[in-house]
Amino acid sequence: MERKRGKKVTIIGAGNVGATVAYSLAMKGICHEVVLRDRNPDISMGKALDMSQAANAARQHTVVTVAHEAEQIKDSDIVVITAGSPRKPGMSRDDLLMINAEITKEVVADVKKYAPESIIIMVSNPLDVMTYVALKESGFPKERVVGMAGILDSARMAHFIFEKLGYGAGQIRASVMGGHGDTMVPLPKFSTVAGVPLSDILSEEEIDEVVERTKHGGAEIVGYLKTGSAYYAPAKSTAIMVEAILKDTKQIFPCGVYLNGHYGYSDVVSGVPVALGANGVEKLFEMTLNDEQKELFAHSVASVKEMIDVLKEKKFFK
Ligand code: LAC
Repeated sequence: MERKRGKKVTIIGAGNVGATVAYSLAMKGICHEVVLRDRNPDISMGKALDMSQAANAARQHTVVTVAHEAEQIKDSDIVVITAGSPRKPGMSRDDLLMINAEITKEVVADVKKYAPESIIIMVSNPLDVMTYVALKESGFPKERVVGMAGILDSARMAHFIFEKLGYGAGQIRASVMGGHGDTMVPLPKFSTVAGVPLSDILSEEEIDEVVERTKHGGAEIVGYLKTGSAYYAPAKSTAIMVEAILKDTKQIFPCGVYLNGHYGYSDVVSGVPVALGANGVEKLFEMTLNDEQKELFAHSVASVKEMIDVLKEKKFFK
């Protein structure tokens, strides 16, 4: 009889982001088993063997395997979903939205069936909308469906702050909220370097530059890679969430979660600070925003709502 090996994390979609999440988890021995599920099982088998061997080199106990059948994801503690189609020439934003919503629906049906107690970490784009789709299609409690993006966006902002400063690497606490897209809301007023407010070390102009670059941080990397998007920082950000949940650290991170009256919004997903632990979202924090921050956040929430409305109009939700 097959026995569960301990903490099990399934990654659906083993492309660059998914595979790099698996690698991050294996290199730190964050769980016992990482299961890859992908439309291309041969490539996944190669990656799984390679990573299992890397884990041995690193003296870690994590084993990476492949789920050839959906039922092999059973008993997963966490399911990370990165499956989705990239935008191709001639495709509208709505076309991509529909395609990825359909993929998410299909994947989530398996999660619901075989891993009904798991926590879903959504990584596919458009992130906030796909998190909403995963929540609705799974019927999971809202605490168990979390979108990855805030950690990524704040890491990018921290790096851009470092580039301006030239010091303080690893001590920069950058804050970003809102959706993962052009309307995200970097919060320089809530950002510090070892406790020193950003406004005391960078000029207003420099801060504006950091904010603008953060908003387009993903696109900047696509511009260089040409055929794909970023994956090291997205994957590391996802692995950080997995670790907080499996170790029940209750550390606070910005994540995409369902708002149910929070900040004055309902029936939408957006990025806000939450504590992550064994139950998924353990607590959601409502920060006091000034008028400017409120307006930017409203704009960001509205852009996610617009896409959810497109899905509703197309009768996507049964
Ligand atoms: C990024 C895209 C992939 O931010 O969402 O890199």
